[in-house]
Amino acid sequence: MKTLVVVYSLTGNSRKVGETLAGILGCDVVEIKENVKRKGIIWFFKSGYEALTKKIVPIEDINIDFSQFDRVLIVCPIWAGNLPSPVRSFLNKYLDKIKDIGFVFTLTSDEKVKVEKVFEKDFKRKAFDSISICAAKVRCNIFEDEIKKFADKIRV
Ligand SMILES: Cc1cc2nc3c(=O)[nH]c(=O)nc-3n(C[C@H](O)[C@H](O)[C@H](O)COP(=O)(O)O)c2cc1C
Repeated sequence: MKTLVVVYSLTGNSRKVGETLAGILGCDVVEIKENVKRKGIIWFFKSGYEALTKKIVPIEDINIDFSQFDRVLIVCPIWAGNLPSPVRSFLNKYLDKIKDIGFVFTLTSDEKVKVEKVFEKDFKRKAFDSISICAAKVRCNIFEDEIKKFADKIRV
């Protein structure tokens, strides 16, 4: 089963989780990148607003044939209870090439926020699996067991 991890990360939590997951699964990681620096309070509110209003923003091209992978795992934060705008833009651009998709979300809240349902509703596709990891656990490096369990569950 050929898997690819795709990361979007503003403050590093999702990158850390994505790299750990890829290490366990023994697969590559690629990153969704933008040409803007989302820094400061204005950008915080702008980013939340973009996520809520489902805005498509410019992202850098990723020169990968996604159709060569059996599945793609997106690792990203939750913004305003929603998909981050750069992740939505990635999906808008490449989802039709992706055979099977799953999600790992990092978030401040310790509650189970079902952002994969937002994906399923907006993109009319089902995610094969998803998990949410609390940002505090990522910062304290106590997320690895959860990620290992998830990797074992999805490993075929
Ligand atoms: C614009 C913005 C909106 C956010 N909205 C939420 C939210 O609705 N719920 C939540 O639990 N965390 C929210 N967060 C926190 C991030 O999801 C969390 O810190 C995440 O781990 C950051 O991942 P990153 O370091 O990979 O960027 C938000 C963060 C930002 C920057």
